[in-house]
Amino acid sequence: MKKISIKLNGESRYVYVEPNEVLLDVLREKLGVKSPKSGCERGDCGACAIFLNGKSVKSCLILAIEVDGQEITSIEGLSNDGLTPLQESFIEHNSFQCGFCAPGMTIAATELLRSNHTPTRDEIKEAIAGNLCRCTGYDSILEGIEAVVKK
Ligand code: FES
Ligand code: FES
Repeated sequence: MKKISIKLNGESRYVYVEPNEVLLDVLREKLGVKSPKSGCERGDCGACAIFLNGKSVKSCLILAIEVDGQEITSIEGLSNDGLTPLQESFIEHNSFQCGFCAPGMTIAATELLRSNHTPTRDEIKEAIAGNLCRCTGYDSILEGIEAVVKK
């Protein structure tokens, strides 16, 4: 076991990890961060997305030991001060059904909106292309993102 220290959603935390433990599992099982979901566990579905040093990554593809000293933000951290306009918009537009894909979609759309305040529908589609949703057909998710862009 090795002790790693991270900044997690604005707080300094430490945790003991095995060399082969995946970040997604450590976040969920040892650090109590439940928003990143375990979907495919091979980088295909985007359900496990988080921000690592401000950049979205798939936490199922990263070993926990690799993030020692780094900064992690999940959607719990995005809404420390209340829901973001994007999250409000998702709710307003009933963007999700089961909600399994919602954290990953939120990370992907948040990252897009940080660098592009007026994305086109095609740019939004491209930004969320790595995130699978099995329930909605994506229209309601796109509408939720587009509505916050218009505001
Ligand atoms: S669980 Fe990580 S991309 Fe699917
Ligand atoms: S709302 Fe169920 S997977 Fe997207």
